[in-house]
Formats: sequence, C-alpha cells, structure tokens
Amino acid sequence: MTYQPADRAMFQPVALGQLTIDNRFVRSATWEGMAAEDGSVTEKLTRTLVRLAKGGVGLVITGHAYVLKQGQAGPWKLGVHHPSMKPGLTGLTAAVHEAGGKIVAQLAHAGKLANVELSGAEALGPSDGEGFRAMTEAEIDSTVEAFARAAHLCRESGFDAVQIHAAHGYLLSQFLSPYYNKRSDAHGGSLENRARFLLAVVRRVRLAVGPEYPVLCKMNSDDFLPGGFTVDEAVTVAGMLKDVGLDCLEISGGTGDSGRLMPVRPGRIKSPRAEGYFKEAAGRIKAAVDLPLILVGGIRSFEVARKLVADGVCDAVSLSRPLIREPELVNRWKSGDLRPSACVSDNLCFRPAMSGEGISCLSEKLLKEKAARR
Ligand SMILES: Cc1cc2nc3c(=O)[nH]c(=O)nc-3n(C[C@H](O)[C@H](O)[C@H](O)COP(=O)(O)O)c2cc1C
Repeated sequence: MTYQPADRAMFQPVALGQLTIDNRFVRSATWEGMAAEDGSVTEKLTRTLVRLAKGGVGLVITGHAYVLKQGQAGPWKLGVHHPSMKPGLTGLTAAVHEAGGKIVAQLAHAGKLANVELSGAEALGPSDGEGFRAMTEAEIDSTVEAFARAAHLCRESGFDAVQIHAAHGYLLSQFLSPYYNKRSDAHGGSLENRARFLLAVVRRVRLAVGPEYPVLCKMNSDDFLPGGFTVDEAVTVAGMLKDVGLDCLEISGGTGDSGRLMPVRPGRIKSPRAEGYFKEAAGRIKAAVDLPLILVGGIRSFEVARKLVADGVCDAVSLSRPLIREPELVNRWKSGDLRPSACVSDNLCFRPAMSGEGISCLSEKLLKEKAARR
C-alpha cells in the first residue's frame, strides 16, 4: 500500500472546539500503571507519554487521574487530587510540549468501582450496593468541587485541556445509567436528573478554568446493559453538554458489567468493516448535535480512520491498544506505510501493569521470544 496525497487531511491541524491539534489521531486515555504509589508522576510515565507524542499522535490523553483519593480505581494511577502533585504534573506537560505534543488530563472518579484498600475510604455510588453506598447530596456537591479543583490544578500545571471521564461505568457514568442509578431524588429517574451531576461538573469545571480553556468529556454511547444508558439518551446528553459549553466529546461504550461488550473489547478484529465499535452511534450523535467528536474503540487501520473522518462520523479518531503495541504507529502511517496496527486485542497489555511494571504489549514480547528461540 502507498500513501495517497488525498489522505493528507488526516495529518492537518483540526480544531476540537478551542483545542487545536496537529492531526486527527489521539491517544485515548489509558491507565499506564506507571504513577507512583501516591499518584505523582514518575520518570517512566513521562518517558512513555513523550514517546507517544514523538510517535506522531496529535494529542495524548493521560490515563484515569483521580480527583479525590476516594475515587482511585486501582494501583499506580495518576492523582490530580492535591496541590502537591503540581511539580510532577508540570514536568510531565513540559516534557510532552518539548517533544512537540499536546497533552490532556483525564479527570476521573471511580465511584462504586473505587479500590477501598488503596483509597482508605468508603466506595460511593449513585445507589446502595454490596461494598458501596449511595452518595449524599453534600457528597455530590463536594465531588463537583473536587473536579473543579483538579481542573484548575491541571490548567496551572500546563495541560492543554482537561477531559471529564463520564464513560465505562465509573462514577459519572454510573449516575447517567439507570442500570446503576436507582435514586428517587433530583439525581435519579429522568434523564435530566441522571445527567445533573455530569452537567454540574462541566459547568463548575468551566468556571474554574475560564471560558477559553478547552473542556472535553468521554462518554458512553451505550452501556450494553439491560435497562442501561442508551444511544438515544447519549444523543440527548450530547446536546446538553454542548449547551453547557463543552468543547469536544469522545464517544466510547460499555462497562465492566457488559461482558464481551466491555469498553476494551477482547478479540482480534478480522475485517475493516468490524473496526470502530461505536461508529453507528457516533454518526447518530454527530448528525443530531453540532459538537466536535472523537471516536474510540477498535480502530486499527488508517483507511478506516480516514473514512470515519471523511464521512463526517467524527472529527478525530483515538486509539489505545494499537499505541501500546506500536507508539510510533501514526508516524508510520504518515510515512506511507499503511499496514494496519498489529494489535490483536488480547488485552494482555493489562497484565504487566497489574504487577507494577506498567503496560506493555505482551503478545509482541512473546512473538519476539519465539523468534529468538528459532
Ligand atoms: C491498559 C488499558 C487501560 C485503559 N485505561 C483507561 C482509562 O484510564 N480511561 C479511559 O477512559 N479508558 C481507558 N481504557 C480504554 C481505552 O481508552 C479505549 O476506550 C479502549 O481500549 C478501546 O480502544 P482500543 O480498541 O483502541 O484499545 C484503557 C484501555 C487499556 C487497554
């Protein structure tokens, strides 16, 4: 395959609301498992994100960064919960900028999925359940404030934007979803009520960072759960997010309870037609709401990415596992080598991160070891 001049549009700057990036490729938020125990930036994390920026993506989004210790989902996650994180965060953004990249912090709270051993606090969700309890109104308000403080800290630390994590069954996604949210107060029941927390976060973050700083959000298009959040609802919430001044929405889908339809879907993608798990939903949202969209999930080839953008399904595509396998993938495509990503979506990349070594592509390592034995 050769590089076609018509494909150049993929490598030209694009405005995602107030955030302009150099090309249409984004590294989607990916827990690297490389932050220090206290949530601060490490050299290894910085090296990894700098390598991604040098590898050609127009934007790097950090992994899930907790806005409150109580919202920490797992080990070696980045923290944006305390001013003491600022020197590390500032060093990270400076290094990525020096490499010519742009970097966004993903602001998150795990809600009922918080790891209580690590957080040292109760796990909280929209409703009571085993091992967690429903948030009070006061706890919702203080969490809104925590998102705002974290956004301000990120702005002060040099991030180009913040992204509010409202996908994948974490706190804000739990509130959006009738599968998890059984409340009967102003935060439960109707879609307007279920979206109240997320909209309050976006409004309060906007106040904290000012009108000219880009605010992004990652949201499910569908929970793929019986009685869960649906595409129709995602279209409506996208409109609400636009009305409160969101710059750009990243479309994902699924939760940890969605079986094989979880956000990080397992299984090799066998044909270009099967790429882009949420492309139909993104197309529907794009047709209904005039808001810049990033589409994530199962995108493995340049041609599919190009077509998604050319057809107006999204303004940019984002990738997670393909960039673990090959951080230089975008530069390779830019050079004219359009072979698809070698990622086989086996999710073995989580394994080294769970043991404290940080994410890496295990199947590539196994292949290399096999070749060396021959
Ligand atoms: C190791 C790993 C960690 C992830 N961590 C996050 C995260 O912190 N925040 C998030 O929104 N999504 C996270 N994801 C999901 C990805 O951003 C993406 O939505 C999903 O992997 C589908 O995209 P892909 O097919 O390009 O991998 C993670 C995925 C992987 C593989």
